[in-house]
Amino acid sequence: MVLNNQVFLLFLISLIGFSCTSHVEKTEDMAYEAGTYKEKYRPQFHFSPPANWMNDPNGMVYHKGEYHLFYQYYPDSNVWGPMHWGHAVSKNLVEWENLPIAIAPDSLGWIFSGSAVFDSENSSGLGTQEDPPLVAIFTYHNHLKDEAGSSDVQTQGIAFSLDNGRSWKKYKGNPVLTNPGIRDFRDPKVRKMVVEGKEKWIMSLAVKDKISFYSSPNLLDWRHESDFNPDWATYDGVWECPDLFPLKTQDGEEKWVLLVSISPGGPNGGSATQYFVGDFDGQTFTTNQKEVKWLDYGTDNYAGVTWSNIPSSDGRTLFIGWMSNWRYAKVVPTDVWRSAMTLPRTLSLLGEGDELWIGSKPVEELEQLRDHSATLEGGNIALEHELLEIALQPKASDFSATFKNGSGEMLVIGKKEGELFIDRTKSGLTDFKEEFASIIKAPLKDLEVKDIDIFLDRASIEVFVNDGALVMTALVFPTAAYTELQLKGFETKSKLYSLKGIW
Ligand code: FRU
Repeated sequence: MVLNNQVFLLFLISLIGFSCTSHVEKTEDMAYEAGTYKEKYRPQFHFSPPANWMNDPNGMVYHKGEYHLFYQYYPDSNVWGPMHWGHAVSKNLVEWENLPIAIAPDSLGWIFSGSAVFDSENSSGLGTQEDPPLVAIFTYHNHLKDEAGSSDVQTQGIAFSLDNGRSWKKYKGNPVLTNPGIRDFRDPKVRKMVVEGKEKWIMSLAVKDKISFYSSPNLLDWRHESDFNPDWATYDGVWECPDLFPLKTQDGEEKWVLLVSISPGGPNGGSATQYFVGDFDGQTFTTNQKEVKWLDYGTDNYAGVTWSNIPSSDGRTLFIGWMSNWRYAKVVPTDVWRSAMTLPRTLSLLGEGDELWIGSKPVEELEQLRDHSATLEGGNIALEHELLEIALQPKASDFSATFKNGSGEMLVIGKKEGELFIDRTKSGLTDFKEEFASIIKAPLKDLEVKDIDIFLDRASIEVFVNDGALVMTALVFPTAAYTELQLKGFETKSKLYSLKGIW
């Protein structure tokens, strides 16, 4: 872990501020050491900010050998407030280096979610041909206008960097997209696309209950192209954080995928991400899909989007999400920091014909975290390690894997009545918010469960079925590490790895 001075200073300031702002009583055993990443419930192989509040991942772009991860950040408290873009980089998607805050609020507003692109041809003119810029496109949220009851609260602005994202300058002509009088007008996700032989920038924007597409030759001037809001989609909450990208089917046909986060309205309550598979011609997104599909049936994968500028020699579509839920994000029992990201995942398109769905697999770089391995014989297994990856092959039609600790707490993952479930009702601390103690369910429909890959960190579980055909991500807060695993209905060739921490 690299913690530079500025971040450490912020961290100290936040600790002082923390004593008055915390919504969580510190429990006696919640001893933490400042900035060590060893605090109780601190994720050990997931990204979390050194201190204070984080929500959505923002501006993910690969550039000069680094994966940039910006994120919604409030440096003064461990609950949501005036948003900045925090920043970290990684060379391998596994270990992260924390960097100073990248973009801070100004007179136009707080810095809400958005994306970043490499403007390789310097179409914006914000760099030079020899030294083209990284350009961040984000939402300005003007809280003064908001408090005054105006509707034109959110606009889109840009900032650029000529030093690999280490420093950012706001564009003088901001905002580049003004508000048409709709309060929810945010989260621009921009990508480059070739339309009729010409390169264009395409922006997907969440506009209350629809996604609007805009195009631009230069990232500065934007033209509205079309809107997408089919009547059968889910509208139980506000639409946020869209992402539009191509994926190839198993037969090599190119389709376009549109991710749309929604909160509340998720299949297990609160925040979740629905998606649409279809076609995009540079102007309009169309789909034959007729029912909602969910990227992750768990409660804790929200506002996730993909990295831009991944080299074609790599070719992967890489995703990361915010591992929390607006239902309880502000009161989860951590205090130095709040929230983590999901594991980075590779997205693919599974199925055929019109029956296409997204598969999400943890990136293979994570294999380097594997430490000791063991073959599981079934029955009761004593767990000597806290950080685990477990690969299970069900043999019975119903099965369960139960993690237990000495305090009588248990976390169950299993299949029953045609559904996959994570039961966290007795998993540890749950009383910080009533809805947290839930059984999270995913319909399996025709999916025959062949293998299950589980990642257990100190405060989360991620379950990948059949190489990511179905995914469930959930937070858990056991008061002590789980020390026993009880397996029912699995083959004996199941495998367990202890994982190394990254901090
Ligand atoms: C999603 C979201 C975005 C917004 C940001 C504000 O979690 O509500 O729509 O830009 O968070 O922090």
